Amino acid sequence: MPPLPHPDDGLRGSAWGGEAGFVAFATADVGARLRQRVADLGCGRGLLSAWLLAATSPGGRVDGFDLDPEQVARARARFRRAEARPRFQVGDAAALDAVSGASYDGVACMCLLAHQSDPGRVLAEMRRIARPGAWILGIEPDHVARVAGEWVDEPTLVDRATAVEEAIARGAAATGAGRYRAGRDLEDWLAGAGLTQVRGQPVPDPPALTPPYGPREWALAAALERSWREEAADEDARRALFVAGGGGEPEWAEWTRIEARIRARRLEALRRGTLAHRPSLGLRAGWGRSRTISAL
Ligand SMILES: C[S@@+](CC[C@H](N)C(=O)[O-])C[C@H]1O[C@@H](n2cnc3c(N)ncnc32)[C@H](O)[C@@H]1O
Repeated sequence: MPPLPHPDDGLRGSAWGGEAGFVAFATADVGARLRQRVADLGCGRGLLSAWLLAATSPGGRVDGFDLDPEQVARARARFRRAEARPRFQVGDAAALDAVSGASYDGVACMCLLAHQSDPGRVLAEMRRIARPGAWILGIEPDHVARVAGEWVDEPTLVDRATAVEEAIARGAAATGAGRYRAGRDLEDWLAGAGLTQVRGQPVPDPPALTPPYGPREWALAAALERSWREEAADEDARRALFVAGGGGEPEWAEWTRIEARIRARRLEALRRGTLAHRPSLGLRAGWGRSRTISAL
């Protein structure tokens, strides 16, 4: 059985079925190889960095960059006891001034472009630091796909949940709060940045929760509970975005009542270890190649 996901990684640590699934994907589809030198931009606590190191080791080198020094400290702490570790440093993914051009065999990011006012600047920087012919990989969320997937076990509510999330995504785009459907735009962005051989596909969701729960299911249940709590704590911000996206206050009030009732029921079953549920991430991966010298 693969190791349990790191507690910091939430549900995303179980995407692809965990590290081994990511390594198989990165090797077979994206072009990761042993001994490659790879950058992870907006590395956060280092989940993708850990996977990239596994995909390129032995002999690989991973450099993680994040704008936030606290995230860099957390990423370093994560690997404190590890034999092989990525190198983490503070850096702006849109302006990695300390990095020479054409330094890497692969450049990756996860859930970074969704937070950029101008994703094109980060993509241009990814391309600059990638050597000719290197692979470039982005993994970004599509919140609407995630929420629709999350409600599949309440089939009569899927359309409504989708419409609510579409309004929230419109509101986020209109107010500059984020690109909630970045995953859907990823391939266009990569092609627009001048990459060749651009491809994309949904990231496999975490395994379904099925009772009786073993250690893996309990770890997933804890991550799922955390993600629901974070969403509930964000309710005011979500309401503001819903309204900015064209939704009405009464509509929101009615929807959140339904949502709260169902969440409470699911949460209770989750805690008893009896909830059968398919967690949904709505993440998409997109990748391509920096042009070879002859094609430049
Ligand atoms: C949603 S988190 C994702 C973290 C990590 N990639 C993961 O998937 O677990 C986004 C991260 O990007 C960082 N970030 C945002 N804008 C950035 C920029 N311009 N340059 C570098 N890091 C940035 C944030 O500090 C945060 O750690």
